[in-house]
Amino acid sequence: MTHVKPFTLPRDSRLMNKDFLFGVATASFQIEGNYQHRLPNIWDTFCATPGKIADGSDGKVACDHINRWREDVQLIASLGVDVYRLSISWGRVLNQDGSINRQGMDFYIALLDALRVRNIKVFVTLYHWDLPQHLEDNGGWLNRDTAHAFAHYSRVVAQELGNRVYAYSTLNEPFCSAYLGYEVGVHAPGHQSRSQGRTAAHHLLLAHGLAMAELRRFAPHAKAGIVLNFSPAYPHSDSAEDAYAARQAHEYHNLWYLMPLMQGRYPEIIDRLAPQERPEIQPGDMDIITAEMDYLGINYYTRNVYRVGGELGFDDVRIDNVPRTAMDWEICPGAFTELLKDLSSEFALPPIYITENGAAEEDVIQDGEVHDPMRLAYLQSHLLAVHQAIEAGVDVQGYFAWSLMDNFEWAEGYRKRFGLVYVDYLTQQRTLKSSAKAYQGLLAQRQTLD
Ligand code: NOJ
Repeated sequence: MTHVKPFTLPRDSRLMNKDFLFGVATASFQIEGNYQHRLPNIWDTFCATPGKIADGSDGKVACDHINRWREDVQLIASLGVDVYRLSISWGRVLNQDGSINRQGMDFYIALLDALRVRNIKVFVTLYHWDLPQHLEDNGGWLNRDTAHAFAHYSRVVAQELGNRVYAYSTLNEPFCSAYLGYEVGVHAPGHQSRSQGRTAAHHLLLAHGLAMAELRRFAPHAKAGIVLNFSPAYPHSDSAEDAYAARQAHEYHNLWYLMPLMQGRYPEIIDRLAPQERPEIQPGDMDIITAEMDYLGINYYTRNVYRVGGELGFDDVRIDNVPRTAMDWEICPGAFTELLKDLSSEFALPPIYITENGAAEEDVIQDGEVHDPMRLAYLQSHLLAVHQAIEAGVDVQGYFAWSLMDNFEWAEGYRKRFGLVYVDYLTQQRTLKSSAKAYQGLLAQRQTLD
């Protein structure tokens, strides 16, 4: 077996401190399978619609995690991580009438207990995109009632799992649910309307705020927050026009979520929208949305480049001759450091956890080994980017690699692999890639330091 060099960080880096949490992340629909024992959700429906998923696949089996979770807990523990981030499938723990699906809830309780025995803390995401289909049939995130249904679901989960959970995240990447799902339609439920995208975003934020209150009440010892994705927006040229375009894109795609949460208002670009495209904000909504959070989860993968144009003042540009991952996303660790610094200086943020960071690579397994040089370089440079942000004064308290193992990459199906662990979907065999070993190596070094 070839030896893999561990990731390295300066010895005195904050990341090497034992109180900095290292983890791996997954999400229910992407790994669980066992669809027969939960309610159908919008991704089941989307997958069943021809042409929506690149390889025509679905989440019916995925990584078969529901049947293999004990083995997967061992795998997680073998990496030496402090924390595991998972999501709960709404339609696995609740029936359509809102009552508890005991078998589904007990699955998560057993999983959490097994992690606790191994001293692994847990970040639980309540909504990682798998909205029960019956709610979508009533309008989904276009219907304000869905925010209240989410609050009910959050309450039940908090009552059942309570303080077994180290930190709850209400939503994962509401940008993706709203923009990709309701505005451009490349994700479930596949709607294509600007006003719907903006309405969905508002109801998601409202759902977050309502859920925060439930979490505070029923899981008072757990941390509570949200996970947002950021793709920092860069201008294509030095011109003032392109600088303006980048700012508009930043407001529309990034600040649209952060600003209401932190400052109780949408960014200025809302004024560029036709009145019928703006979300309906009812009195009191912003007070709910600005509920104080214990942390902000940040997912970072890439940056985007913009030039002036388009209806809203920005058009994205694909830059040539830059390194890219298998997702065709530019590899740009410098933008990660800058993002963390900029957000922290512009907003009074709570402590930050990097809740996702990683890369897709065209992995092949050969003689039981998977060499993933690009992912190794990506993770190494992004760990250093976090280190640099911390050196500059940003309060980052943890880092999760996306993902524990290869899984269902949404509209891309199973062809895009993000795992530290390789999954053979025919046999469901899991194999540590070189990146998993390098991560293991880093975490082991850390343990010998104190
Ligand atoms: C963000 C999402 O939270 C996750 O589900 C997805 O697989 C990764 N990014 C990679 O695209």
